[in-house]
Amino acid sequence: MRNAGPHSREDVAAALLGWMRDSGLETFLTETPRNRFAETAAEREKRQAARRPAQAPAPSPRPASQAPSPSERRPEQEAAARSAEQSGFPTGRVSVPDDVAVADARERARAAASLGELREMLEAFDGCNLKVTAKTTVFGEGPETADLMLIGEAPGRDEDLAGVPFVGRSGQLLNRMLSAIGLERENVRVTNAVPWRPPGNRPPTPVETRICLPFIERQIELVAPKLLVCLGSPSAKAILGSQEGILRIRGKWTTYSFGLEESATIPAMAILHPAYLLRQPAQKRLAWRDLLALKTRLDTVS
Ligand code: URA
Repeated sequence: MRNAGPHSREDVAAALLGWMRDSGLETFLTETPRNRFAETAAEREKRQAARRPAQAPAPSPRPASQAPSPSERRPEQEAAARSAEQSGFPTGRVSVPDDVAVADARERARAAASLGELREMLEAFDGCNLKVTAKTTVFGEGPETADLMLIGEAPGRDEDLAGVPFVGRSGQLLNRMLSAIGLERENVRVTNAVPWRPPGNRPPTPVETRICLPFIERQIELVAPKLLVCLGSPSAKAILGSQEGILRIRGKWTTYSFGLEESATIPAMAILHPAYLLRQPAQKRLAWRDLLALKTRLDTVS
């Protein structure tokens, strides 16, 4: 086949590349094996070191001497660690999601007295497997205390690369939604229920969400917003415990409790996720209704 006609070699190659891109292929294989887990870990370490103040010791909420030794590991953890060792991947990054990880997350999150400490705790936490494949920990963005806090599901590709929530297409729509009701993105705290991008943008599993929950709950407590808004159904399920679909619960005020005292509750609601609105633009009229309700409520509490 020569380079002519609708099926030239270039056309076929371009079609193949287009198909791979549309299928979500982001990196090409090379002749020699590359340990991308180790590369990601090294990159993350470099970013964390750059963020640490000079000469400050690396955060180690659990000293190395207290890290679970092979004999302390449960059998399934032991098997995972062994297979990771055999594969040549860093064993410290591989974990088995279970109640131990949830309890560990809870303990670390509770110990954080500020957002800075919470970020360090999260970055040092190895109990969630999503961290293995994510490039960055997407902690949250916005003021340390804010009247309004928005919580999405989990970072996507753009957010994973930038280390910042909602910077991709849905983030741009979110910014427009906020400005439509007179809010500036930089005055709003924006974060996600899960801080690591699930591979290929799959939804986080219930176990992964449960493991991450103590960190987002502590973040809400520290930011102490006056209103909380969950973007989309997975966030509403994780944070507000909603059981029904988003089209049923959206726009309805409920309360979020972050303490045992009765006063430690704030109004909360779920609205449609901007990514959903990009796919279903006709539903923007529902989102607009909810945004107006949000604006009215915000004016009464701030
Ligand atoms: N979708 C989310 O839920 N969160 C992001 O940060 C980006 C897209």
